[in-house]
Amino acid sequence: MSVGIDEISFYTSSYYFDLRTLAEIQNTDPEKYYVGIGQEKMGMAAPDEDIVTMAANAALPLIERVGTDAISTLMFATETGIDQSKAAGVYVHRLLGLNANCRVVELKQACYSATAALQMACALVAREPQRKVLVIASDIARYDLGTPGEATQGCGAVAMLISANPRLVSIDPEVGNYTEDVMDFWRPNYRGTALVDGKYSTKIYLKSLKKAWESFREASRLEFADLSRFCYHLPFSRMAQKAHQHLAKLNKVGLEPEQVEAQIEPTLSYNRTIGNSYTASLYIGLCSLLETCRDNLSGQRIGFFSYGSGCVAEFFSGTVREGYAEHLHRERHRQMLDARESLSHEEYLKLYHYPNPTDGGEHEMPHVTRGRFRLAAISHHKREYVPC
Ligand code: HMG
Repeated sequence: MSVGIDEISFYTSSYYFDLRTLAEIQNTDPEKYYVGIGQEKMGMAAPDEDIVTMAANAALPLIERVGTDAISTLMFATETGIDQSKAAGVYVHRLLGLNANCRVVELKQACYSATAALQMACALVAREPQRKVLVIASDIARYDLGTPGEATQGCGAVAMLISANPRLVSIDPEVGNYTEDVMDFWRPNYRGTALVDGKYSTKIYLKSLKKAWESFREASRLEFADLSRFCYHLPFSRMAQKAHQHLAKLNKVGLEPEQVEAQIEPTLSYNRTIGNSYTASLYIGLCSLLETCRDNLSGQRIGFFSYGSGCVAEFFSGTVREGYAEHLHRERHRQMLDARESLSHEEYLKLYHYPNPTDGGEHEMPHVTRGRFRLAAISHHKREYVPC
């Protein structure tokens, strides 16, 4: 019996800020962003959107297709937590109408935790193959204005249904892990934006790739040449290009530009215009591969590299299933991305600075999102979510 991803769907805000506009404001060459870091746009959440509304929007199409009966667990991965105690997934559980006997838990380790959720979900399904686990990763990436990180902001959520005999990608049980206590990127509880040592973080990312790959090679019989596509954690798309060259070099493989293009380029399309969505970004990359690659991927083996600052990394593999293309949400995703609206610099700053009320008063949110769920108010320190 194989276990893995049976359905995948993502959501991002209807609003984005173009990095050309940011470059103009900063008097920087736009090619630094479009080419140097490989990013074009960044998703900006509306005042009535957060990790809960994005998560529910990402998961709704899955629920509409497969129903709620078999879902035993909802695992919610995020590093944009909205509460120190209550799991954000509990709100999503209600919004999606999941069964009262479905367990819900939130996981955290920077951008890595969606992978922990995926692996734990596979283990749960292996124990009880008639049940399914809903894994959701949802994040809003925010850095201080005027810092090098500003151009790598973004927002998005991805929902994956994990089942036995999955229709999209079976996940191999062998994994390679690497953990090290480092301060490359972090966000103390009292801050709304992340602190980051940018250049150092890219070095640690590459070091972790090497270490996780070595650990994977000890666990798995697969070699670099057995993997035909590679999905990397995507803080910005150029990072994946660097990572892939690094991995090829470690394996003493000389790659032609067209090989690099074929092996990673289809994974980058969505993220280039969404930006970093932290926990969700690796899996939005997978969605991009499955939905935008012109080749038939059936039977092809994918290598995955998940990285979460701080840091925990994992290399693992999976195989695309025969007939996968019939079970995607390609058209819905295309329409969602095409319908997005560009923000002026003033509008971007307004969203960036939108107040996050902490005084316990009654605060209604303007109806701005075009999604199916919204944060309607924060009253008496309680967040109120409603369907639209
Ligand atoms: P920077 O220092 O301003 O950029 O920010 P730079 O000067 O290094 O330039 C970037 C690239 O653009 C360079 O290419 C330049 O040469 C090129 P490279 O040398 O790297 O190949 N460039 C140009 N190219 C074409 N035309 C031009 C031009 N000018 C320059 N005119 C930095 C870069 C990554 C530091 C910044 O964006 C940052 O701090 N980002 C946030 C941190 C981050 O994303 N780190 C990634 C690894 S850590 C990670 O992935 C975890 C994370 O997702 C969080 C989590 O796990 O929770 C962040």
